[in-house]
Amino acid sequence: MAFEFTTENKRRFDEILTRYPVKRAAMLPALWLVQHQAGWISHEAMEYVGKLLDLSPAKVYEVATFYTMFNLKPVGKYHFQVCRTLPCQLVGAESVTEHLQKKLGVKLGETSADGRYTLTEVECLGSCGTGPMLQLNDDYHENLTSEKLDALIASLK
Ligand code: FES
Repeated sequence: MAFEFTTENKRRFDEILTRYPVKRAAMLPALWLVQHQAGWISHEAMEYVGKLLDLSPAKVYEVATFYTMFNLKPVGKYHFQVCRTLPCQLVGAESVTEHLQKKLGVKLGETSADGRYTLTEVECLGSCGTGPMLQLNDDYHENLTSEKLDALIASLK
């Protein structure tokens, strides 16, 4: 499906461009804007960004696939990203993932059939002193326990 920025996001994109000496330097914020608008970055969106930045879709693809923070397939309304890097692993990251799999009824790397939850594991999110931790959509949740996870899930509308 063709992708285009909304009028508001096109205005934001134009404003982003003014901050960089060359267009291609705006690739990461442009991809963020796509993800913010659509929830993920499709091939069509990569082509669109490439056109706006005078770059080939392959160049955009290279960058979008390098960073795990970009979703390359649709994600659920609530995207749980559990940090699995060593410091978090040592304080129970694995049990966080297990608990979420059970409570959300979704396997690691998958989205629930109703499109509500996606569960993934990611590398260090820079909050190593407060593990185990996860990112839920745009927010961090730290020092996780089973009770905290249950309360978090219960708070979701
Ligand atoms: S190791 Fe988990 S946030 Fe850094």
